[in-house]
Amino acid sequence: MSKAIRITEVGAPTVMTLIDHHAPSPGPGQLLIRHAAIGVNYIDTYHRSGLYPVPLPSGIGLEAAGTVEAVGAGVDDFAPGDRVAYGSGPIGAYATYNNVAAGRVARLPDTVGFDQAAAIMLKGMTARYLLKETFPVQPGDTVVYHAAAGGVGLVMCQWARDLGVSLIGTASTDEKCDLALSMGATHMINSSRENVVDRVREITGGAGVPVVYDGVGKSTFHISLDCLQPRGLLATFGNASGPVTGVDLGLLTQKGSLYVTRPSLGHYVASDAALAANTADVFDAVARGAINITINQRYGLDEAVRAHEALEGRQTTGASILIP
Ligand SMILES: NC(=O)c1ccc[n+]([C@@H]2O[C@H](COP(=O)([O-])OP(=O)(O)OC[C@H]3O[C@@H](n4cnc5c(N)ncnc54)[C@H](OP(=O)(O)O)[C@@H]3O)[C@@H](O)[C@H]2O)c1
Repeated sequence: MSKAIRITEVGAPTVMTLIDHHAPSPGPGQLLIRHAAIGVNYIDTYHRSGLYPVPLPSGIGLEAAGTVEAVGAGVDDFAPGDRVAYGSGPIGAYATYNNVAAGRVARLPDTVGFDQAAAIMLKGMTARYLLKETFPVQPGDTVVYHAAAGGVGLVMCQWARDLGVSLIGTASTDEKCDLALSMGATHMINSSRENVVDRVREITGGAGVPVVYDGVGKSTFHISLDCLQPRGLLATFGNASGPVTGVDLGLLTQKGSLYVTRPSLGHYVASDAALAANTADVFDAVARGAINITINQRYGLDEAVRAHEALEGRQTTGASILIP
């Protein structure tokens, strides 16, 4: 029997329940994909909690890898049996099957397994647009990334190293700091016992950095601004500690004519061509060995509640996946 996670109300992880579910036949231009592995991402917790409203009832999850089961009318570049993955929705990946527009799906290289693909699509595309589009880094740059031992974080550490960029990371435990250093971070700051701004100033000889990539949000917003050099950019791209609200724009001028952007992957891969270019670059980085995909948590589909509790409880490192 095929299964799916459903929410009929928003709230704590326990609002997610596993139901029997028959996926509808693929519509025109769609693929019916039988999932072999499903990616867990922080955004899934926002859909579940209500921070990012979705129409209810709803599925959860934007990322999975598996095999094409059936193709809809008008699809001629995929066939049943093809190995594929997706990382930009549609919502409902926490399931045995999902129907996905063919243009939003990537064909998997033979060298990339289903587990790896489910762990790298959304996180890899995010690291790629942050480093190459939001603030295109140059060799020799020094950047700050918060929660560097996390899912996106460990990809950022490795990709920054590959681009010749020094990454100053933060994490809440010594074990997480050691892990991020082993994956390419140049410096790590234990945010539980060190002053992040002082350490960034010390490491950069007082100058600060040209860009801070901040997926933690509320609790790090002011810290991030204080790490920047004049006219630097804060890319605040997530809400792990809560959303940033009520910003006084005067702060930006006081702290050095700073820039702030609030980017979202969806806008960077809005066209099928942009999505294809991004995923091709991710798979190239994996094939070159520049990025080693780190899956440190594996759960059954029936353990989605536990997966969210661990992610929100700061108990995870690297990527988490669900196996249907
Ligand atoms: N805008 C976009 O396009 C986009 C795309 C992908 C991801 N994101 C965002 O990027 C961030 C990272 O995503 P991810 O899936 O890779 O998650 P993750 O980094 O694996 O997990 C979040 C980490 O944030 C840190 N954190 C700090 N304060 C926290 C708090 N109060 N509660 C929970 N965690 C806290 C924790 O690391 P420490 O314990 O080390 O501090 C935790 O492990 C999320 O905010 C996500 O929404 C945004």
